[in-house]
Amino acid sequence: MEVPVGQSVSADRTGTLSPLPGHDGDRRAHCPDRHLGTASWDHIRSLFTLRPGTVHLNTGTVGAVPHEVLDVHERVTREWTGSLRDIYPPTLYPEYRAAIAGDFGVDQDEMVICHNSTEGMARVIAGLDLGEGDEALTTTHECYSVLSNLNLVHNRTGLTVRTITLPSGPDVRAEDIVELFAAAITPRTRVMFFAAVTLFTGTRMPVRALCDLAQRHGIVTVMDGALLPGMLDADLRALGVDFMTGSGSKFQCGPLGTGLLYVRNKVIPEHNPLPLPPFWPVISTWYPMLGPMPPRTTTRVETCNMGDYLQSAGSAGIARAAALTRACQMWNAIGRGRIERRIMELGDHARDRLAERFGERALHSPADPRLRSPLISFRPFRAPHDAWNPKKINLFVDRLEREHRIWIRWVEFDVPGSPHMHYAARVCTHLFNTREEIDHAVDVMGRLADEMA
Ligand SMILES: Cc1ncc(COP(=O)(O)O)c(C=O)c1O
Repeated sequence: MEVPVGQSVSADRTGTLSPLPGHDGDRRAHCPDRHLGTASWDHIRSLFTLRPGTVHLNTGTVGAVPHEVLDVHERVTREWTGSLRDIYPPTLYPEYRAAIAGDFGVDQDEMVICHNSTEGMARVIAGLDLGEGDEALTTTHECYSVLSNLNLVHNRTGLTVRTITLPSGPDVRAEDIVELFAAAITPRTRVMFFAAVTLFTGTRMPVRALCDLAQRHGIVTVMDGALLPGMLDADLRALGVDFMTGSGSKFQCGPLGTGLLYVRNKVIPEHNPLPLPPFWPVISTWYPMLGPMPPRTTTRVETCNMGDYLQSAGSAGIARAAALTRACQMWNAIGRGRIERRIMELGDHARDRLAERFGERALHSPADPRLRSPLISFRPFRAPHDAWNPKKINLFVDRLEREHRIWIRWVEFDVPGSPHMHYAARVCTHLFNTREEIDHAVDVMGRLADEMA
């Protein structure tokens, strides 16, 4: 069911959401939703809790929350605090899930509001039937949340984890990545894990091509989409993945402690003809205390609401789901396609300025337009051995923040053929950034890198 755009929502004791007062009259209402689609970027920036004088180029770690999302969070917390209402039914979030699922082209029974991407990933990895003799294929450029959870299953059950080191730099093409995966598949490969956008080099992975490859081999696909919600205007069904985990507090700018978990729950052959993989909804108070779950579907019609099994996991914060839903409504009102174009334009601007200042070969992020994202990693220092020096990059990022109030992060990753781990600076652009602040940040970073050389 759609939650009307422009209205905040709260849940009553049956789990049904009733409208909260529309935000048009709110204390902080700068712009009713009906105007957001045409509002200027300057105006949209004013809706966010950004500290004046701070340049926020680190949404890949955490986004800036709109004032109104904070207001919804506070209001719903107060409504539920000290009341005698039963908090269990509403924490199934049926309407919030339906609304958010629709934003990503899927249905309520396939969407779970969890606490972050890490939790979602742990639940997917623990819920798949993986054991000795099976292989999981992934890359060394995945987040720790993927690699450490896979290693846990390796230690526990004997699963083999095979990793590919992704190539980086301006010359990488989408085909190179797909070929690396294709060459690493064996008859024992059961599941492939890859990011939607990698956090170290900001490579937007060729997801549809990887899913086509996996489907040809009967392999399950798990996408770490921590950075996807709020950045990419994506249709998860059309991408063909079996699972996606996402963060609510990064590009989607919801409150901290919000994440999304998508679990394919029906077979729609034009997107993914494979049967649903066996899956155990770990952490569930909905799972039967005796006997099995209903059988899962083999058709386009759902027979077992897997989203409910996963969502029902004890008491939970109602405010965070309400606030995340409000952030998603704002994105819809501004236009998810419009936001993606804006983010990518700013990313291209940052990439050009960084290439001018530090040289194109200093960029670890791809130039192939199919692989570009708004995350750009680069080596700020000219001396080649500085790329292997974690202390120096740490100091660079720290000084940017302390002395210039420019917030970026440093990243660490391996490079094919190199014995060293590489350390680089990473900037991320988001809808609230401006070209002027990107130019300013690049100038400051250039001067600081010269000073520290
Ligand atoms: C690609 C990627 N995956 C997973 C994570 C972990 O996300 P969360 O903090 O939502 O668990 C991050 C965090 O930066 C990330 O960038």
